[in-house]
Amino acid sequence: MRLSNKVALITGGGSGIGRAAVRAFAREGARLAVADKNRQSAEAAAEEARQAGREAIAIGVDVANGGEVKRMVEETVVRFGRLDILVNNAGYGIAATVVETEEADWDALMAVNLKGVYLGCKYAIPAMKRTGGGVIVNTASVTAQVGIRNRAAYVASKGGVAALTRAVALDHVADNIRCNAIAPGTIDTPYYAQIMRQAADPVTLRKGLEARQPVGRLGTAEEIADGILFLASDEARFMTGSILTVDGGMTAQ
Ligand SMILES: NC(=O)c1ccc[n+]([C@@H]2O[C@H](COP(=O)([O-])OP(=O)(O)OC[C@H]3O[C@@H](n4cnc5c(N)ncnc54)[C@H](O)[C@@H]3O)[C@@H](O)[C@H]2O)c1
Repeated sequence: MRLSNKVALITGGGSGIGRAAVRAFAREGARLAVADKNRQSAEAAAEEARQAGREAIAIGVDVANGGEVKRMVEETVVRFGRLDILVNNAGYGIAATVVETEEADWDALMAVNLKGVYLGCKYAIPAMKRTGGGVIVNTASVTAQVGIRNRAAYVASKGGVAALTRAVALDHVADNIRCNAIAPGTIDTPYYAQIMRQAADPVTLRKGLEARQPVGRLGTAEEIADGILFLASDEARFMTGSILTVDGGMTAQ
């Protein structure tokens, strides 16, 4: 197994990409702390990992809150004695141009998508250093690389995540900590299901989203989890400060 006995903390682990990562990590032998704002969904994901024979706990957390992120890391270390892998995955988007984006909505999104990654790293790195190193995987997006319309704050936040990934990688290379990011294209998760439900014309919207990815379909949460698993495993031991694009060819054109 690729993560045998490793202790992994996954934020946004209750749904979508995070939930699929919990499943993949459990399959590969990890011990898991599943953190999510929605504690119930974190508990369901942790229970699934326990059913698969792994040790797993659920933690309710708002990744935008420094005190809560500190407690999240402490709870993980108290329960498992160490922290080997952090997946900073919690995040969300809002549909708006800069003109339409309210200041409060900009601040709230940045606090989760970008500050949440900073806080996760800030509190996890000292814990990793105490046991000789670790691995961080951040969920960025193809929008760190190319613009998309009507998602100004989201695109800016993911650009920040990619830049922060490189900075953390360089600052902590001597601590034996690798830090990489995954950049998904458009992935069929509960987040996108909600966007479809709210759309005036969901069929046309879905067709448009599928058409912008040359493979002609949305990605699955499992396909992104496989990339996260690779970055978290020793197979990626020569990678740090990299952004792994998994996007059905979206950014190749
Ligand atoms: N779905 C896509 O197409 C896509 C593409 C690129 C990047 N991403 C990124 O992947 C990550 C996961 O997205 P998803 O599509 O699986 O979405 P999702 O909505 O299915 O899951 C996100 C999870 O994060 C949790 N969360 C949200 N805010 C939080 C907070 N403040 N603190 C703790 N947990 C919080 C939610 O409760 C939810 O369980 C996000 O960072 C998203 O930006 C998604």
